[in-house]
Amino acid sequence: MLAPHPALLLHGRVSISATGAVAATTLVTPAPGPVRGDAGSAVTTIADGAVAWEDGVITYVGPAEGLPGAERFEGCTIAPGFVDCHTHLPFFGWRADEFEARLAGVSYRELHGEGGIYRSARMLAEASDDAVLAFCLPLVQEMAGHGTTTLELKTGYGLSVEAELRQARLARRLTAEAPQTCTVTLLACHAVPHGIERAAWVRTVCDELIPAAADLVDAVDVYVEDIAFSLEDLAAVAEAAAATGLPLRCHADQLAASGAAEAAVALGARSADHLNHVSATGISALGGAEGTVAVLLPTSTLFLRAAPPDVRGLLDAGAAVAIATDFNPGTSPVLSMPEAIATACSLYGLTPAEALVAATANAAAALGLAGTRGTLAPGRPADLVVLDGDAFRQVPYRPGHNPVRHTFADGRRIGGA
Ligand code: NIG
Ligand code: FE
Repeated sequence: MLAPHPALLLHGRVSISATGAVAATTLVTPAPGPVRGDAGSAVTTIADGAVAWEDGVITYVGPAEGLPGAERFEGCTIAPGFVDCHTHLPFFGWRADEFEARLAGVSYRELHGEGGIYRSARMLAEASDDAVLAFCLPLVQEMAGHGTTTLELKTGYGLSVEAELRQARLARRLTAEAPQTCTVTLLACHAVPHGIERAAWVRTVCDELIPAAADLVDAVDVYVEDIAFSLEDLAAVAEAAAATGLPLRCHADQLAASGAAEAAVALGARSADHLNHVSATGISALGGAEGTVAVLLPTSTLFLRAAPPDVRGLLDAGAAVAIATDFNPGTSPVLSMPEAIATACSLYGLTPAEALVAATANAAAALGLAGTRGTLAPGRPADLVVLDGDAFRQVPYRPGHNPVRHTFADGRRIGGA
């Protein structure tokens, strides 16, 4: 244990530097990710726990009695900040009328023709860069208020080489202005642009877009679906991504089984996401995968009123399971990780401890950040939340309630009630 931190540097709920110390009824933290299979045993729980940090880096995690200067939060829980490893920000505008149409019986597939991704692409194209930033910044601030300290941003609403590069640059601007750590993924194969054959677009993505975006993005994603791209397209994009040193991700088996999960594992993808219709082969591939995280997106399942995946099968097979919001204006207008955690528990059957691991350590692994984010330990960045409730189970137990009292990212307070 390190020496007690001398001073409390929270004043009027605002930290004045990247140095501080807090204590609470409970402290919970997973081991560094990826944690495979039944993750509950990977969670350390300290009754009367505390954490201290200096210059944004954790210096102490342990019993509160070892840290007498810390501000104490009675009836609260300290946890790592949430890592939202799958969002579709930056986007511009909402599609609540499509949500209402779906409730009236129109399917997501039917809306895909002129609405859906194509509509979000039109709205993004018609907005100025400054308008897009002005739309997105309050949203990332709202995410900070819900405990998100790291998040993924994605393209996919460009649908041309120039518009995809513009969206990647907008994501970089958002990264610079957001209070969180952000990564950027190129989802150039999200929908086949109008006026071009699918195969021709995939060639353009591989030959022009990926090389041109290599310095702007951290990963490449492909939406494999009958209304989008094929397994052959995924393999072609994987090759182009590997040639530029970019890791691969995959929207896999969301609307129907396609074999995308097992293909993603075979291609060494960092994640296979959605997985509503993952096959038994896909489950055993993810169970044995060295580096492919199974990213579950329970709020998009809820909002599409879709079938949940075989989550227990994935855990029993030994998969590293993460959860994220999938925040986007179509399938998941949800930016709250506490809400995603609550839905993961009630709809997908995760235990609160599994959900904690999935929303922190394993989500960091999906972003290639397992070495830094998603766990509390000396030497790690001080990304943490102080939550209402004397145990983490209180988070999934109260959906709709924002449990976040304080969010600290790199030691600075970035949100909270
Ligand atoms: O992850 N399914 C593909 N992409 C998104 C939805 C995008 C949209 O509808 O705008 C998803 O669910
Ligand atoms: Fe998505």
